[in-house]
Amino acid sequence: MKIIVIGTGYVGLPHAAVLSEYGHEVHAYDIDATRIAAYQSGDADSIERYVNEPGLADIVAENLGRYLFFTTDINGIVEGTDVFFLCINTPPNRDGSTDMSYYLDAIHHLGGLLGQRQNQQRVVLVNKSTVPIGTARLLESVMREHGVENFGVASNPEFLAQGNAVEGSRRPDRIVIGADTAEDMQILRRLYSQFVNHVRIRYLETTPETAEAIKYVSNTLLLTYISFWNGVGARLAEAMPNIRMEDLKVGVTADARISTWGSYVSNGAGGSCFGKDIQSLIYQLNRAGRKTDILQAVYNINEYQKTYLIDRAIHEAHFNFNQKTVAVLGLSFKKRTNDMRDSAALGVVGALLSRGVRAIRAYDPLAMDEARRSWFNPDKNHLFERISYHETAVEAIDGTDALYISTDWEEFRGLARTIQATARPPYLVMDGRRMLPDFDMLVSAGYDYLPVGGPLLHGWPASDAPYRENGSTAAPIAELRHVPA
Ligand SMILES: NC(=O)c1ccc[n+]([C@@H]2O[C@H](COP(=O)([O-])OP(=O)(O)OC[C@H]3O[C@@H](n4cnc5c(N)ncnc54)[C@H](O)[C@@H]3O)[C@@H](O)[C@H]2O)c1
Repeated sequence: MKIIVIGTGYVGLPHAAVLSEYGHEVHAYDIDATRIAAYQSGDADSIERYVNEPGLADIVAENLGRYLFFTTDINGIVEGTDVFFLCINTPPNRDGSTDMSYYLDAIHHLGGLLGQRQNQQRVVLVNKSTVPIGTARLLESVMREHGVENFGVASNPEFLAQGNAVEGSRRPDRIVIGADTAEDMQILRRLYSQFVNHVRIRYLETTPETAEAIKYVSNTLLLTYISFWNGVGARLAEAMPNIRMEDLKVGVTADARISTWGSYVSNGAGGSCFGKDIQSLIYQLNRAGRKTDILQAVYNINEYQKTYLIDRAIHEAHFNFNQKTVAVLGLSFKKRTNDMRDSAALGVVGALLSRGVRAIRAYDPLAMDEARRSWFNPDKNHLFERISYHETAVEAIDGTDALYISTDWEEFRGLARTIQATARPPYLVMDGRRMLPDFDMLVSAGYDYLPVGGPLLHGWPASDAPYRENGSTAAPIAELRHVPA
């Protein structure tokens, strides 16, 4: 089949690449010319600068010019296309609603082209972007506005997890198709033929609105698991003596009815989807006059979680950040990606700067270029000049008074030894991901260890660490900071 994928970011590029592996003729179109030039080069480093996913650059290089084509101009190629996939960014507005401007630009442009096509074969326009419920209907009306004939609209939400995008596209747990007519269902069944009768992959055909809702309910339920463990499990183990977080998880999730996924505690879930999708669902339900208490609580807990370890450092460890140098290790929102959108590290760095740190020494195995882009903007905030960028964790830790682990990169599991070899106590280790299995070694060597989901462990001697503020009183954690409404 001839397919055009519109938007070639974290969703569009893996989707286009994997479809091309199955022998479809796939044209991937984007308005970002530098991005398209990078993909057209077939060079792994250039491709990964935009989307860094294991195995992706190889698939692109293998299929480039045979089954996979990139372009910044679709005017000449719409004729004869069977299916268009819309993989456009749909970021949040300040009020939580979805910013549809990029999507609307794309569909009006497409409508204009399709309205003038010569060949009137059936064409299906498929939303892969996460879009408010009712958007397939909007797409349909925009096409009618442009006089497009013989078309169908469908919703086919994307469920891939970043860091695993290729596998998620090759072997998804489900394909959800929401369409109105048997004819369009049939076209998409042909396109996804390798998945339709697969024993493990659920192939679900439903209405466009149900498909759109499945995406929002899935993402908010996943965030609910995460916020439950952060808001209940972690709080318990931090507040009560002698609770072992890992044993708590094993004991609770032994019940087959309880999800093991999400049963970890962390400094919150970042990425471009969870936060924006739950805000959008809150907005959509509020507009429909429905209560959203549970969603609001889940969102608040997740946002609070991103920086609350800094508050615990001040109130429990009595750490005074003023004029201190702090290493921040892990900048991407999770391991195996260079994506920093909504990453906890953004909040952590902001909180540290506002607490008056002298310097932040940053390190991430993949996201250094991304970080330089995020924080290189002296006009926006001259405090960003206090951030320096380092090639290794050892280099970042050197000369610091404390460190903060923000991302769950596996290489951080061995940090206890690195810290001991590089920094001298008094020294505070804030562990936002519970990454240090041998933290006790650090504590007995005199380092202070403050993990999410566990109490502060004082290194010896605990009482006279000079970094502490004299006379500061510890406040109960629940009252530390105002949780945003
Ligand atoms: N990132 C994820 O893990 C993920 C997972 C599931 C669903 N989604 C959803 O998929 C959609 C895309 O997300 P993403 O992370 O790939 O976004 P992204 O920002 O990485 O990519 C979007 C791409 O669309 C391009 N674009 C914007 N306007 C365009 C236009 N008019 N014509 C052509 N191209 C245009 C941009 O240049 C960009 O390359 C969003 O709705 C998102 O919520 C994302």
